[in-house]
Amino acid sequence: MGPPGAGKGTVAKVLAKKIRIPHISAGDLLRTHMRKKTELGKKASLFVDKGQLVPDDLVIEMMRKRLLQSDALQGFILDGFPRTEGQAKALDKLLSDEHMTVDHVLNFDASNKKITERLSGRRICSKCQEIYHLKNIPPKVSGICDRCGGELIQRKDDAAGTIQKRLEVYREETAPLIRYYDEQKLLRHVPADLEVSDLEPILEKLMK
Ligand code: AP5
Repeated sequence: MGPPGAGKGTVAKVLAKKIRIPHISAGDLLRTHMRKKTELGKKASLFVDKGQLVPDDLVIEMMRKRLLQSDALQGFILDGFPRTEGQAKALDKLLSDEHMTVDHVLNFDASNKKITERLSGRRICSKCQEIYHLKNIPPKVSGICDRCGGELIQRKDDAAGTIQKRLEVYREETAPLIRYYDEQKLLRHVPADLEVSDLEPILEKLMK
């Protein structure tokens, strides 16, 4: 959990590789649907492009299908889900039906200055969605993904006006979930302003 640009996706990808479980990002799944112009993608883009949340029923069904795939049976790292109390309750129900539980909830605390700097410099691969930053985490060859050779693009919802809307939506709809998980004693705070390499040992400790 954490505001847009806090580094959730970047760190989740590093952790997933390390502990060999899939990184399941609601935002990545929605962008894939949007790129393929599926029915869900067409509906989702009406919300995502404006920085609003996609309605719970659509997101919950998408995540339910993904979490029941065989690679997720040994666990997974969720990124960007749940984002509302309705989604958190649906996740609890889904996990309990599958005899699973949430082990840790990592909350990324990032300053507004870092958020703005990170979102304005972010580029993602148009094919595999790998995340880069023009200054902090640049690709080896400008504009080209190191991993798959895809073209790097700027996300449509990283436009300045849309970032403000996403921050508002985060504060109003998602931040209250911090309390939901704190009450269950699952919440761990991540000092997200740090560089990725400095965060790794901290995360290892937090997840013990
Ligand atoms: P989503 O894709 O989840 O966007 P978000 O939550 O706004 O988060 P971001 O992806 O912007 O940021 P991040 O924290 O992952 O940062 P990143 O690692 O990229 O969702 C997009 C949209 O989809 C939503 O607005 C909504 O419309 C919809 N949606 C998604 N989930 C939904 C749900 N559950 N319900 C309803 N709607 C939903 O890092 C940012 C930049 O900083 C990168 O350039 C990176 O290279 C750099 N960076 C990261 N960490 C560091 C570091 N430690 N040091 C230096 N640079 C760093």
